[in-house]
Amino acid sequence: MAENATSRTTDLDIRFRAPTPEDGARMWSLIGEMGGLEQNTAYFYVLFCLDFTDTCIVAEVDGRMAGFVLGYRPPARPDAMFVWQVGVAPWARRQRLAQRMIRALLDELGVAWLEATVTPDNEPSRKLFRSMAREYDTECREIGFMTAEMFPKSHEPEDLFRIGPLKKQ
Ligand SMILES: CC(C)(COP(=O)(O)OP(=O)(O)OC[C@H]1O[C@@H](n2cnc3c(N)ncnc32)[C@H](O)[C@@H]1OP(=O)(O)O)[C@@H](O)C(=O)NCCC(=O)NCCS
Repeated sequence: MAENATSRTTDLDIRFRAPTPEDGARMWSLIGEMGGLEQNTAYFYVLFCLDFTDTCIVAEVDGRMAGFVLGYRPPARPDAMFVWQVGVAPWARRQRLAQRMIRALLDELGVAWLEATVTPDNEPSRKLFRSMAREYDTECREIGFMTAEMFPKSHEPEDLFRIGPLKKQ
């Protein structure tokens, strides 16, 4: 899997790979341990690791999961990759790992748009996607998408971050 250099270096010896079905449970556990991300059912993670391997990626350090991205291509917008969840273990953060995982997927897919939804108070995530737009020298549009009223239980609204068009690099 392609991986481009980014502006900040890292001391971690990171391996990027496509997920296996066994990674689903590991992702579920990592989210439970680190918090900050909505923990969906383990079934959901296993399903993504089975059926969406070309839009998902795992980062490992010494065989330990350092982070992951779970994405898919929205059927109505096949020229986009939608990041459903991106998570980096606390010990691996602030080393451009999230950026590098997303970039590796985008390079592989060659899509024109990167999309994700972000809640208003998730500043690290908002910064991550704005930074991706800067890195690709393109626009980051932030559009109201899911309102709190759409959810059955208390849930923050989710803004759609739509980044692009992405130029081939
Ligand atoms: C959000 C998250 C994935 C970022 O991972 P990361 O590998 O530490 O991020 P990166 O090192 O690639 O940083 C990317 C950009 O975001 C910024 N950023 C990352 N974490 C930040 C923080 N806690 N506070 C402020 N800025 C932050 C970085 O400075 C960088 O921006 P820059 O290019 O302007 O310097 C990680 O904090 C995480 O797993 N959080 C919990 C889960 C979550 O909220 N996921 C996103 C919703 S799906």
